[in-house]
Amino acid sequence: MNLPDLLDTLAKNSDRHLDDLVEWLKIPSISSDTSHRPQTAAAADWVAAKLKRAGLATELIPTEGHPMVFAETPAVPGAPVALVYGHYDVQPVEPIDQWHSPPFEPTVRNGNLYARGATDDKGQVLTHVQSVCDWLATGQPLPLQIKFLIEGEEEVGSENLERMLPSLRDRLACDCVVISDSSQYADGQPAITYGLRGIATYELEVNGPSQDLHSGSFGGAVMNPAIALCHLLSSMVDHEGRIQIEGFYDDVIELSQAERDAWAQLPQSDEAFAKAVGVSELFGEKGFTSDERRWARPTFDINGLQSGHQGEGVKTIIPATALGKFSFRLVANQDPVKLTAAIEHHLKQHAPVGIQFTLKPDHGAPGMLANPESQYAVAASQAIETAFGVAPVMIREGGSIPIVTRFQDVLGCDCLLMGWGLSDDNTHSPNEKFKIQDYHRGIAASAILWDELGKLSESK
Ligand code: BES
Ligand code: MN
Ligand code: MN
Repeated sequence: MNLPDLLDTLAKNSDRHLDDLVEWLKIPSISSDTSHRPQTAAAADWVAAKLKRAGLATELIPTEGHPMVFAETPAVPGAPVALVYGHYDVQPVEPIDQWHSPPFEPTVRNGNLYARGATDDKGQVLTHVQSVCDWLATGQPLPLQIKFLIEGEEEVGSENLERMLPSLRDRLACDCVVISDSSQYADGQPAITYGLRGIATYELEVNGPSQDLHSGSFGGAVMNPAIALCHLLSSMVDHEGRIQIEGFYDDVIELSQAERDAWAQLPQSDEAFAKAVGVSELFGEKGFTSDERRWARPTFDINGLQSGHQGEGVKTIIPATALGKFSFRLVANQDPVKLTAAIEHHLKQHAPVGIQFTLKPDHGAPGMLANPESQYAVAASQAIETAFGVAPVMIREGGSIPIVTRFQDVLGCDCLLMGWGLSDDNTHSPNEKFKIQDYHRGIAASAILWDELGKLSESK
């Protein structure tokens, strides 16, 4: 393939690339919402049809939940196999009144495309779909085999994919999984992400009296479930964010000095960071920078609380129940299953009398570490530098992609994370966006990556 010619063709097709993304983003594929099931399936159909039209062997793989899209180009003996993984499902959109344009009516403002899923993950995964489709449209063969697995349940924990992975092992066999579902370090500073945090999410329900009680008649004599919930939740963490559960830090892999030194070179300003998220000051575990806290330290968060009177005005009651949703971000080597047992034990020890509690574990996934010096990372670095005009920095990130460590374990492959997003893209929030220029640069970087990977000989 003559790469300059291909990059030229990609540039000529840029309007169509954007139109495609707009079309896909109009489909409200909210995986957690059962009322959106048909639309979620329609988003799978949309990308499957696109891959099929480009000539890839494409199939929809049904699951107990939302379908997965699998597609592949022909095998290329002697060359490595790349598996592009991404997700077409998106997060819910509320609070809807805070969107400046409707979440499923993609809108261009200031060089950004605003829509739910713009950067997480339709816009990002589509960069690889576009590069492969346009490459094939030139009539030239790809220099390596490329497979796609685009699923619809990443935002709800990828449990069906995880269950099915062993049976898909042969079909998904690859040397390297390529994922664009993360971020650049900063606007104008692309990155390769070699680590992600894991996650463990829970619901804690506290039950007290058989129904709400008058707090004047009963307050002081009956334990208040909302107070019990607050005590239980706050007992798990101290004022600096150190987790108080016995044994919690036992399996934590400490940051190496080399990593800390490398990250210290990254441009960062706590003031700018605080300002960007609208807080007066940052907070966190002593002795760590903000990047270290976000990328390489485990943390505890309360994600939602529900109890008592939510309506207007005062209602003096002891609520009968209280519900807390909370989660931990984990670092590589911490086991979410082991954690659940430790939390159970902790809650039993801290539970006040007069209430019952139930702890319901939701999804869990371990943290991921990839080799930042792999031949795939070297090839990606080359591709990104050519497309963005700036060499990428090597970072970790704090978010989680539940299936990545399973890919490493079950498929025995490397992982390459090239994020095209930005930290102010408002993922999971109102006004999600994707910088249009980065979408186009991502498509170019993807094409160059295929060219670079094609030069490597098969590693297995
Ligand atoms: N794309 C994100 C993961 C991510 C976020 C990677 C930030 C790097 C930086 C993914 O779609 C996501 O939101 N994952 C969830 C997983 C959870 C629902 C099991 C997360 O991290 O909360
Ligand atoms: Mn994502
Ligand atoms: Mn997400």
